[in-house]
Amino acid sequence: MIKIKPLQSGFVADIEGVDVSHLTEDEFEQIYAAWLRYGVLRIREQRIDETQLQSFSARFGPLEEAPFGRLSEADKAKIKNRYVTQLSNILVDGKPIGGLGNAEANWHSDMTYVETPPPASVLLGVEIPPSGGDTYFADQCAAYDALPQALRERVDHIAIKHDAAHNSVGELRRGYKPFDNPIDAPGAIHPAVLTHEETGRKALYLGRREWAFVAGQTPSASEELLDELWQYAALPDYTWRQQWQPFDLIIWDNRRVLHRRDDFDANARRLMKRCQVLAR
Ligand code: SIN
Repeated sequence: MIKIKPLQSGFVADIEGVDVSHLTEDEFEQIYAAWLRYGVLRIREQRIDETQLQSFSARFGPLEEAPFGRLSEADKAKIKNRYVTQLSNILVDGKPIGGLGNAEANWHSDMTYVETPPPASVLLGVEIPPSGGDTYFADQCAAYDALPQALRERVDHIAIKHDAAHNSVGELRRGYKPFDNPIDAPGAIHPAVLTHEETGRKALYLGRREWAFVAGQTPSASEELLDELWQYAALPDYTWRQQWQPFDLIIWDNRRVLHRRDDFDANARRLMKRCQVLAR
C-alpha cells in the first residue's frame, strides 16, 4: 500500500511502500498527484539502475537529453541511457565523470535560462559523502504568499532575464564569453510570477540570483529589486533540507521550488544520477 507522508505543512512528502521500477498506473497517478501537491517527493531505498531511473522519469513526460558535446547522432544512438546525467566530483583517468564537482551550488531552479524549462527533475543518490552535500528546497508558492502586498503587486508585473552563461556553481558554461554586467547576460526572459499550469497556484519565479536582470530596469534598480525579492525566496519556515542516504530518489517541481546544495570534502565521493522531464 502506497503511503504519502507530508514532511512540512503542504510542502515535501515521503512516499513509502513503492518500488518505482514496478509501479502500477494507479500508483504512478498517486505519485504524480502528490508531486503536484507537495512540490518535492522523496522515495527512499530505490536501488535502481540507469535504465530503471530513465523509465520511471519518462512516466512524468518526455526527457531532456544529457549533453553529449560533439557526438554524432549515430554515436548518440548507441548510448543506452542517453537521458541520464551524472553529478559527481569523482575523477576517472583524471577526468570528472559528472558535473558540479564538490562545490556549493547556489539557489536556483533548473534550466530557467531556456524558453521552456523542464518542469520536473528526478535525482537519485548513489554514492553519498559522510558529511556535506545536503540539498535544500524552498517553496516559492509560500515565498510569493509571504511578499508584502506592495511588493507582490509590483512583482506581478515584472519579468526577469535568466542568465544562461553560468552554471549553479558559478562556472562559465562552455561556449559563453564572460561579461561584467547582468544586463549583458544571455538567456530567456520569464515573468517573475509563474502561474502553475497544472495547479493554478502562483509562485515566485526567480531562477537564480547571480547575473539575473529585471527587464526594462536600470542595472541599479534591477539589483535593488532582486535583492528585496530574494529576502523572501528561502525563508527558513518554507525551506526543507535533504540529508541524503544512498538510493534516495527525489522528484521536484521546478515551477514551484528552488534548490541549492552544500559543498562537501573534495576527497569524499558523491555520485548522483539525474533525469530532467520536459512538459508532460
Ligand atoms: C543541483 O541540481 O543543483 C544539484 C543537486 C545536488 O547535487 O544535490
